Amino acid sequence: MLKGERVALRAVERDDLQKLHELEAQNVDIEVIAGGVWFPKPLTAWEKDHERWTGSDNVMWFIIEVDSQVIGSADLHNISRHDSTAELGIGIYPPEYLGKGYGQEAIRLLCDYAFRIQNFHRLWLETFSTNERALKSYLACGFVEEGRLRQHAWVDGQYVDMVVMGLLRSEWQQRKVQS
Ligand SMILES: CC(C)(COP(=O)(O)OP(=O)(O)OC[C@H]1O[C@@H](n2cnc3c(N)ncnc32)[C@H](O)[C@@H]1OP(=O)(O)O)[C@@H](O)C(=O)NCCC(=O)NCCS
Repeated sequence: MLKGERVALRAVERDDLQKLHELEAQNVDIEVIAGGVWFPKPLTAWEKDHERWTGSDNVMWFIIEVDSQVIGSADLHNISRHDSTAELGIGIYPPEYLGKGYGQEAIRLLCDYAFRIQNFHRLWLETFSTNERALKSYLACGFVEEGRLRQHAWVDGQYVDMVVMGLLRSEWQQRKVQS
């Protein structure tokens, strides 16, 4: 388990899937802001993802816990061991847990794990230009904007840019020295 001040990251167990399924299904608006679209995803689809990703070389999937409550999940995916890169993903769903810094703490824990423990060289991610909370969180954690795919996605009734962001290990280490 990776422990921060308020947030813990741990492996996703089969028993967590029902909760993740409920959190996503009950917060369609949040899923649309984050992913652009929502599909009715049955529990069996979560179980298939869990089976596929457990032990996979391409994905590391974590439960985000606060006060022993499951509030979402975070992951490293699209892992390339050749290039030492991974794409970061995160989703917190109960509205009362958003905008309180839990996501930022989870992102920092994941970055520290990725660079210090897993020896990745670069982390990257994609987010929509309309997802202000996510953009601000990633910037606060040290990610920089590397480019934009203009009007790349249809999100909540409009075309929006897809923002590509990245963080190098050297930049992460530099920030730790300075803090
Ligand atoms: C994106 C996410 C991880 C951010 O974590 P968080 O802990 O909720 O965010 P924070 O509390 O650190 O807030 C980040 C910034 O956004 C600001 N903010 C909070 N709510 C906001 C809102 N509704 N609109 C715009 N900015 C907002 C905060 O003030 C903070 O800015 P600051 O650093 O200048 O003070 C989390 O909100 C989340 O999981 N959202 C749903 C799924 C999602 O969008 N995932 C990302 C997909 S790329």
